[in-house]
Amino acid sequence: MGDRALAMGTFFFDERLIDDEQGRIDNEVNAFTPHDCADRSFVTSRLDVKCRCLMELDFMTKESQPSGPDLTSGVALTQFVDGKLLGHVGEEEVLLVQDGSEIFAIAAHCSHYHGPLNEGLMVGGTIRCPWHHACFDLRSGDAVRAPALAPLDCWQVEKRDNLVFVREKRVGLIQRGKPPTSAPEKIVIVGGGAAGFAAAEMLRRREFRGSIVMLSSDSSAPVDRPNLSKDYLAGSAPEDWVPLRPDSYYNEAGIELHLNSEVVSINARHVTTGKGDQVAFDRLLLATGAEPVRLSIPGADQPHVRTLRSLTDCRAIIDTSKTSPRALIIGASFIGLEVAAALRARDIEVHVVAPEKRPMERILGPDVGNFIRALHEEHGVIFHLEDTVTAINGQRATLKSGRTLDAGLVVAGIGVRPRLALAEKAGLVTDRGVQVNAFLETSATGIYAAGDIARWPDPHSGERIRVEHWVVAQRQGQTAAINMMGMREKFAAVPFFWSQHYDVPINYVGHAEQWDEIAIDGNIRARDCLLKYKRKGRVLAVASIFRDLASLQAEVQMEDEMIQSV
Ligand SMILES: Cc1cc2nc3c(=O)[nH]c(=O)nc-3n(C[C@H](O)[C@H](O)[C@H](O)COP(=O)(O)OP(=O)(O)OC[C@H]3O[C@@H](n4cnc5c(N)ncnc54)[C@H](O)[C@@H]3O)c2cc1C
Ligand code: FES
Repeated sequence: MGDRALAMGTFFFDERLIDDEQGRIDNEVNAFTPHDCADRSFVTSRLDVKCRCLMELDFMTKESQPSGPDLTSGVALTQFVDGKLLGHVGEEEVLLVQDGSEIFAIAAHCSHYHGPLNEGLMVGGTIRCPWHHACFDLRSGDAVRAPALAPLDCWQVEKRDNLVFVREKRVGLIQRGKPPTSAPEKIVIVGGGAAGFAAAEMLRRREFRGSIVMLSSDSSAPVDRPNLSKDYLAGSAPEDWVPLRPDSYYNEAGIELHLNSEVVSINARHVTTGKGDQVAFDRLLLATGAEPVRLSIPGADQPHVRTLRSLTDCRAIIDTSKTSPRALIIGASFIGLEVAAALRARDIEVHVVAPEKRPMERILGPDVGNFIRALHEEHGVIFHLEDTVTAINGQRATLKSGRTLDAGLVVAGIGVRPRLALAEKAGLVTDRGVQVNAFLETSATGIYAAGDIARWPDPHSGERIRVEHWVVAQRQGQTAAINMMGMREKFAAVPFFWSQHYDVPINYVGHAEQWDEIAIDGNIRARDCLLKYKRKGRVLAVASIFRDLASLQAEVQMEDEMIQSV
């Protein structure tokens, strides 16, 4: 659990040790340049490098050695457990994986947040990360499913005298098909978030040679948005860990990124920005995401009343928190409670006001709701449930119950709305989201939509759904990218999201808006459980706490069901 907290970015390290090591880390990070851009599969993020440095530092502080045997000296197949063996090559932890008659040697940690792949699941020539379900090709190390975008290192393996030896690192393993000759020349992406960035990255990974223009109304380049309510907000991750890629990446990858560029209209084959610029496209991806629902009560327009979506929002919350010993969170769902946990880490008194009886009950059910409430209370959060804020007068908030609360910082986490205005104005078919087909194409040929705005035909539930999950947005961006190049790939990933509260991660696979039964295996309070959300006996979704392997297995089972139903 400790490792997970560390590597997921909740870096509980001693600042002094960091100071001692700062020079080395800075050198390593500053020296980092994306590898040869002709093969962009080797582009690694600054965050990945920092994770690696910190893991190294963690090993040093524990005076620990890399785990397991020295794999260069040879290991027997009988040492493998469930087809895997964790060992090392020099200082690097390496995982040996047996897949049929073949043995592969790959980096032992996921390139997303350093999840332990030896606890992951092997599926058909790939390995899936236990933490957020990224997937890597065993043969090449390629990151075939988000949230990981960077590949894993791979090593040569030699079998001799019933022993397996790991030799030198292998390079240039990733073979990618060329884009079709009919691939378009100009792709425009509206949105610099999860889906937009993943699309641009995938286009270059797949060697799309045309122009990519990304127009984002954000003032910062694409960021690791989930971090904004977690480590960065809590003060345990510095700001330069938040970008998905260093600024230099966009130039090097040939992605024309325009910040503060709001697209206001779409015409036959060009978009127009608020500044009046026209940008022509052959294919267009709309990935405008969602925006926080604003409070509509008296006093909601004051500067200390905030919402959280962008890095700018997050910076403003941090600034205000520095002079506010008490914060009021309005809303007890994912964002609200993650913000509550982050502010508690800053030693701020936190009150949460929400109309529901139990936090997160609508998504996760009453038992997890009770657990989440107790967990936050253990950390000092004070709940005011079945109540709402009716007015904020200066720093004084008045609740429906008549109670008043003084707070120098108010954060409203009362839900989000998909940003549909652009699509609606362009005449695209919308229905509580932009309607897309299985290929993520909208009602207009050549215009695609992905992420929080897209309502797609989900093959697992058999319904048209729209979700607000980081991993789904990234995977849709990737599928849209492939289709914009002229291929035909259906989006068929089972939805997945995670949420983190203190040291408790919650993973959720599938999609259940309504259920008639929740089957609980294990003990929620003991933080060891798997919950199945069922309708008419069929499992629609699975939530888990520290049951990572079972969560991955549930995902595979849902995928199998989809294949059978086609
Ligand atoms: C604080 C926070 C924490 C989260 N944590 C988690 C988590 O732990 N797990 C999880 O699964 N999900 C999490 N989410 C949800 C997840 O971040 C979203 O589902 C995901 O970012 C959606 O990706 P997207 O690309 O659709 O939209 P976004 O990432 O929001 O990107 C939309 C982009 O479009 C731009 N844009 C909008 N309109 C225009 C326009 N007209 N012209 C130009 N640009 C435009 C925006 O500026 C932005 O750059 C979190 C969200 C937030 C806000
Ligand atoms: S750490 Fe592997 S997917 Fe996040």
